[in-house]
Amino acid sequence: MNIDDKKWEVLCSKEEIEDKTQELGRRLTEDYQGRNLYVISLLRGSFIFCADLVRTIDLKLKVNFMISSSYGDGLQTSGKVMIDKDVEEDLTEFDVLLVDDIADSGLTLKHVMEHLKTKNPKSLKSCVLLNKPSRRLTDLEPDYFGFTIPDAFVVGYGLNYGDHYRNIPYVFIVTDEDRY
Ligand code: IMP
Ligand code: MG
Repeated sequence: MNIDDKKWEVLCSKEEIEDKTQELGRRLTEDYQGRNLYVISLLRGSFIFCADLVRTIDLKLKVNFMISSSYGDGLQTSGKVMIDKDVEEDLTEFDVLLVDDIADSGLTLKHVMEHLKTKNPKSLKSCVLLNKPSRRLTDLEPDYFGFTIPDAFVVGYGLNYGDHYRNIPYVFIVTDEDRY
């Protein structure tokens, strides 16, 4: 990968992400035994994490996608979360697990969870790869998360910077951002 080493610092390596995803998969397989699991991947940030995660869950499950956006200046959320693509299926018979890339302010997770709650699923939980609790602006915490990370802007493994770098197989800290 043609990345300038001065600008990037590896936060979660490919191997660490693999191990953590396996661990989450084992927990989810245990916790959702005998349930009716319906995984909802929040696009675009969670497409890689969710694709890897569902392959570690040894259960019969469904996968669907939602698209949300929060209009901000690129690095910071505006706080206004929009649902651009919803799930149309009746969720009342399902144990829904919302999967996202990161809980930063938590506003996206809170908004989408509240929206999904109105669909009366049997149960509703959330799972994120990265948890940045220092930036939280809500009381909603993810039910499952992979890594607790410091207050830094991170990219790779689905997360974007200027709409690029989602394809990098590990998570980097952007160290040349003067915002942080
Ligand atoms: P929220 O602030 O928790 O609502 O996060 C909103 C969205 O912003 C997340 O789903 C990510 O897609 C994106 N985001 C938040 N923090 C980062 C980051 O450090 N790097 C890349 N994207 C981020
Ligand atoms: Mg996102």
